[in-house]
Amino acid sequence: MVAARITVNGKETPISPAAPHTTVLDFLRERGLTGTKEGCAEGECGACSVLVARPGVKKPTDWVAVNACLVPVAALDGQEVVTSEGLATADASGAPAVLHPVQEEMAVRGGSQCGYCTPGFICSMASEYYRPDRCAHTDRAEPADGAGPCEGTGPGGGSEHGPNGFDLHALSGNLCRCTGYRPIRDAAFAVGMPSEDDPLARRREQSPPEPVATAYVRDDGAFLRPGTLADAVRLLRERPGAVVVAGSTDWGVEVNIRSRRADCVVAVDRLPELRELHVGSDRIEIGAALTLTEIERRLDGEVPLLAELFPQFASRLIRNSATLGGNLGTGSPIGDSAPVLLALEASLVLTGAGGEREVPLGDYFTGYRQSVRRPGELIRAVRIPRPLAPMTAFHKIAKRRFDDISSVAVAFALDIEDGTVRTARIGLGGVAATPIRALATESALEGGPWTAESVESAARVLSAEGTPMDDHRASAAYRSAMLGRSLLKLYARTTEAVSS
Ligand code: FES
Ligand code: FES
Repeated sequence: MVAARITVNGKETPISPAAPHTTVLDFLRERGLTGTKEGCAEGECGACSVLVARPGVKKPTDWVAVNACLVPVAALDGQEVVTSEGLATADASGAPAVLHPVQEEMAVRGGSQCGYCTPGFICSMASEYYRPDRCAHTDRAEPADGAGPCEGTGPGGGSEHGPNGFDLHALSGNLCRCTGYRPIRDAAFAVGMPSEDDPLARRREQSPPEPVATAYVRDDGAFLRPGTLADAVRLLRERPGAVVVAGSTDWGVEVNIRSRRADCVVAVDRLPELRELHVGSDRIEIGAALTLTEIERRLDGEVPLLAELFPQFASRLIRNSATLGGNLGTGSPIGDSAPVLLALEASLVLTGAGGEREVPLGDYFTGYRQSVRRPGELIRAVRIPRPLAPMTAFHKIAKRRFDDISSVAVAFALDIEDGTVRTARIGLGGVAATPIRALATESALEGGPWTAESVESAARVLSAEGTPMDDHRASAAYRSAMLGRSLLKLYARTTEAVSS
């Protein structure tokens, strides 16, 4: 097996002697690339953001911004990374000579004061700069390079998009403590389109680096990336205590903040069998290792409840790495995907040495961070049955609108016909030891009229669902109150829509 290596700013670098748990952030900084900063080390500030060449949605390769503090460098064996230093054009001596267009706009519009957050902003901005379907208002129908219809520009794209099609949510994972965001937004909305001779724009036309099977084994642990699903299943049977990671957005926090170490980490995020997406007439099957950004862009609104979830699910930087398999695999009661998938009556395809089996998500969670998933089993895919309920909504109650953990999450999927609730599916997060279905409320609604009186009655039932707790995010009483309010809010929205 070839020694593990990573290409940084065009230069191939051996990963050894880094420890298996060494993050991309520490690896880069130890090699002098100190533009990549550590702010929080837990995926919340974006100071560590770098660009990685990943399989593209509209072009062969996308330049995807990720949190370097969360990703083990061994996970990028064989991959290409660009840091803020690599965006500027170098002179003959290798020193940055000409600023990248994104850097130039940040400089001239005063987008940087102390500068600590700036390289991270630059990388997130560059990722959006190179998004193939970004285009200006005037080009709304089709971008010049034929990447397909523009996404999110102009009035339909919402107020978070600039006249150049720049989606400000690309910066949702980047915090600045001193400049203020207006000059940063000005810079983002001022960048043009990449020129034809831009090397990173041209790089998008070629395939991304293939994932490589990795066995990075040292005295202090091992990072293993099996090449096939069969190898992964065999490996997990041999090493039942191994930590399974996909985007490492959860494990990376454990390593950095809680100093956890594993004898063996097994990466499954590039297994082809876990990265398929099928949209059929009777169901939609989503590979467990597709990133949330990939699902969001590839489904393109096909599942409205998921489309409503994604912008509220952490930042773009996190969504660029996080997966449904990871969010469900941790068994967390506050993962935001579970309430939505419960409302959609999704099931999980689990695969292991004993073969494959399908488990309804409603039967999957068995206790706090526990599930029916057996040692050595992987989540291969999530299946969502069709037809989808016509009326859906996802309400996330959190202290901040974006990039925060839910105090309570409520997902609704209702079928209302002629004023009568035919079916109601409601998924809840944050109100019990596991994500749950609001079964009593569903029964209270089903067969009844969709009127203020009956909804108020069902809202009282919903307020009593689960066993909410007091903690630092919210009190039990607040959580219960929010459940009931959530149904009333949905009702108000539907009646507003009818009367307007
Ligand atoms: Fe804050 Fe990585 S250092 S997100
Ligand atoms: Fe100082 Fe952003 S420029 S934190």
